[in-house]
Amino acid sequence: MVRIDASELETYVAAMFRRVGCAEGEARDVAFYLVRSNLAGHDSHGVVRAPLYVRWVKEGRTRPGQTPRIVTDTPVLAVVDGGHGFGQTMGPFATRLGIEKAKAMGLSAIALRNSAHIGRVGDFAEIAAQAGLVSVHFVTASGSVLVAPFGGVERRISTAPYCVGVPRPGQAPVLLDFATSFVAEGKALVASLGGKPLPEGALIDPDGNLSTDPYQLYGESNTQPKRDHAQGKGAIRAFGEHKGSGLALMCELLGGSLTGTGATKPSKHFANGMFSIFVDPAKLAVEDFFDADVSRYIAYVKSSKTIRGVDEVLTPGEPEAQARADRLAHGVPLSDDAWASIVEAAREAGAPESETPTVKSGSGPHRPNPLRAGMDAANGPSSAAGLLDPVKPPRPCRYTNSGSS
Ligand SMILES: NC(=O)c1ccc[n+]([C@@H]2O[C@H](COP(=O)([O-])OP(=O)(O)OC[C@H]3O[C@@H](n4cnc5c(N)ncnc54)[C@H](O)[C@@H]3O)[C@@H](O)[C@H]2O)c1
Repeated sequence: MVRIDASELETYVAAMFRRVGCAEGEARDVAFYLVRSNLAGHDSHGVVRAPLYVRWVKEGRTRPGQTPRIVTDTPVLAVVDGGHGFGQTMGPFATRLGIEKAKAMGLSAIALRNSAHIGRVGDFAEIAAQAGLVSVHFVTASGSVLVAPFGGVERRISTAPYCVGVPRPGQAPVLLDFATSFVAEGKALVASLGGKPLPEGALIDPDGNLSTDPYQLYGESNTQPKRDHAQGKGAIRAFGEHKGSGLALMCELLGGSLTGTGATKPSKHFANGMFSIFVDPAKLAVEDFFDADVSRYIAYVKSSKTIRGVDEVLTPGEPEAQARADRLAHGVPLSDDAWASIVEAAREAGAPESETPTVKSGSGPHRPNPLRAGMDAANGPSSAAGLLDPVKPPRPCRYTNSGSS
């Protein structure tokens, strides 16, 4: 494992995207949000994706330089077509538009369609929270069919993430942000490579038996260097039995069908669709009540006696704040393989050796994954809880308005 300074990593990754055809601002945004995901502790959606994004650019699946196109525009509603441009351009753009409308009207909804991978959905709830807004996001990862519905054994759903953000003045927001699949596919990949085994019931085989064997997902490619989830006959299960499966279905219907992206299906060009709702608590005239009641309730929840081995009840968003504090201070941890694949992609794109950031090998003392805090007895108290989360000021974004309703 290596650790790399976050800003050096961001500069390095941004240069890679410039070299494959992104303009300066776009390259910086893609790198910024990828590193930001690492900082939040969600490595599965961090810089490890950079080589894949580069490949998608080369294959024409992700298109640099796309301008978000507003296809429907009312005071409270907009549809934004991403034209398969970078999600790190489209997601922030859709969010800023939703914030603008909600600030004026108290409430807004934005349907983002046909975006390339938007990465960590929590980024958008954090941007909204920094503007003082509550937001809810339903997302499809359309074209990626990995998850079996409750009661079924065949893949029918994407990992369909769901996210809710609640602002807290002067503090990091309360932020629930997860895939509706039992585990992210990245975790199955890690398990297939001999890493941490999958939890009980994560997968289901074609006969309906629960499984932890990544073979169910990767089939024969489970023994080859490059895993291909199209080769397995099994599926990932949705989290939370019928309830999680139902939430995943709603993410497909709202993030997919309602946005015009289309709910997931096989042989579809990958696209994220995101249906976001923004609410301004100030317009509900509860400003004297809301913030105080959120604080009171969070404190009440956290005051619960803990189970054996757990020091503190965490609320959603706290593990990310902890991870960010650790990683800003000590660097972003990356597996040797992940780092090697990033350096290889950068070299292929034409990066000279001199640009490679300094690597802190060995990474110092072991630091438990803060995302497992509260589930992992090894974790200490939340020293960074309540850390004000810096979100980059948005860069101005041009767009075309090709219609209205
Ligand atoms: N763009 C896409 O197509 C796509 C698809 C799937 C997932 N994602 C992203 O992947 C990321 C990871 O998803 P995931 O399902 O692996 O997340 P996860 O299982 O790690 O769950 C994260 C959520 O659980 C909360 N949490 C974690 N530990 C906690 C604890 N001990 N106590 C209280 N709350 C706790 C976190 O604050 C966070 O809200 C998310 O950011 C998601 O948006 C994106």
